[in-house]
Parts: sequence; C-alpha cells; structure tokens
Amino acid sequence: MSAARAIRALTPPDIAARKGRTPLVCLTAYTTPIAQLVDAHCDVVLVGDSVGMVLHGLPSTLGVTLEMMILHGQAVRRGLERALMVVDMPFGSYEESPGQAFDNAARVMAQTGCAAVKLEGGESMAATIRFLAARGVPVMAHVGLTPQAVNALGGYRVQGRGDDADRIQRDAVAVAEAGAFAVVLEKTPEALALRITQEIAIPTIGIGASPACDGQILVVDDMLGLFGAFLPKFVKRYAELGEAASAAVSAYSQDVRERRFPAAEHVFGDEPKT
Ligand code: KIV
Repeated sequence: MSAARAIRALTPPDIAARKGRTPLVCLTAYTTPIAQLVDAHCDVVLVGDSVGMVLHGLPSTLGVTLEMMILHGQAVRRGLERALMVVDMPFGSYEESPGQAFDNAARVMAQTGCAAVKLEGGESMAATIRFLAARGVPVMAHVGLTPQAVNALGGYRVQGRGDDADRIQRDAVAVAEAGAFAVVLEKTPEALALRITQEIAIPTIGIGASPACDGQILVVDDMLGLFGAFLPKFVKRYAELGEAASAAVSAYSQDVRERRFPAAEHVFGDEPKT
C-alpha cells in the first residue's frame, strides 16, 4: 500500500463549521495553473463570473454564459485537491424560477465536478436557495453589492449605508435561513458587516466589507497585479506581476530585434552535442 495519503477536499459543511473560528481564505481562479498555485493556501476557490471581465475583456459580468463557467470550472477542477470549489451561476441562468436554477446548477455540478454554486441576491432569491439546498445543491449566497445588478444599482457602489443597512441585513438573514452554507458580503460598511456576521449562523465572506467578516475573498488577478482595467479601492496588491510580465516581454522583444535570442544554449540546450 502506498504511504502517500490522499488529501481530503473541504466540503460545504466544513466551510459552514468555520463560523466564528479561523478566518476563511478564499480566492478566485479560472485556469488550471492558478488553481494549482492557490489550492494549498485557500479554503474556498471560486470560479467567479468575474472571469468575463478579467480574462475575456467584457465590460461587466452580464455577458458571461453558462458554457464559459463550465469550461473554466473544468480547468480549475483539474488544479484543485484540497480547497472547496464553488462555481458562479451567471446572469440569466437562475433568476427566472427555482426549476431553472436547479437545472442549470445541476449541469454545472455534473460537468465541472464543483461541490457548490454561488448566486447573487438576498430576499428575492431565498425561495430558490431553499429549493436548491433541499435537492443536494449547496449554495453560497452573495449580498450587498451584487455586480450582476450593476445597472439596477447605478454602478459598483457601496451598499447598506444609512437607512439602506436594514435591507442588506434582511437579505443576509433571508439567505442564511433559506439554507445557504456561506454568504459573500460585498462592499458594505464595517458596522453593517459586523452586525450581520454576529447575527447570522453561517460564515460571512467579505470583499470590501472589513475584517469583521468570517473570511475574505479577492479576485486573484487583482491581488497579483495582473488585472489593471478596474481596481476597486479595497484591493491590496500583494504582487505586481503585470509589471514584471511587461518588463519580461520588453526584454524578449529587445533580444529578438537585436538578434541576441535564441543564443546557442537556447537552441541546443537539452540535446546531446554531436
Ligand atoms: O465573480 C467573482 O469573482 C465574485 C467574487 C469576487 C466575490 O463574485
């Protein structure tokens, strides 16, 4: 028998059980190499519909399709061993009815091997979340700033300021009571994030919602400095890989133009000399 032990992948109940304990580390991934890179460090890896903006150059997440999510989900699946993989349900794939949501979520789970889906919306999505959870589809909810509603919200604005706080709180309570195993809280003031985190029984995963949450999520390309088209204020850049890549491409370009590349060791490097 092999001495190597298989790594046990985290499950939605494992994530739910982290409520009030060590903060959950979550990042997005859209490809196999990035999934491999983040797996050992993350509890949750989200195949976010942000893929549309980050990798496909779309102006918002509204143009993302179920087929795009499935293709990127399959790529990420091949790179993960330990982290829980969650796939975003794209705009238009779940809002019409609980039945539509179930059909599309079941397809995403069957074709990608993900263990859970994420969908945006609070009170208005509670019946759908209840329907899915009762049929074996673990749901991560997403309230506060919900990017798929960017047109209705009038932009990517902070949500839940002043009198609006109660609306976001009701959304968070509704999705928790409906059976979501965790909820993303995006762009809400710290006092509200704290209030919600204290009130609901499932982990809150913040993005621009303060350290009061039970965990944090970022778009991996934002924190690595690989995506420059749009940088939310709450993002901390942990690396400047975009700048490093640009310098590398510039050096290659100069080498080619000045006939310094390929040098003999690049051409014959791996081959036995004859
Ligand atoms: O699409 C996404 O990447 C997201 C998160 C960053 C929460 O929804």
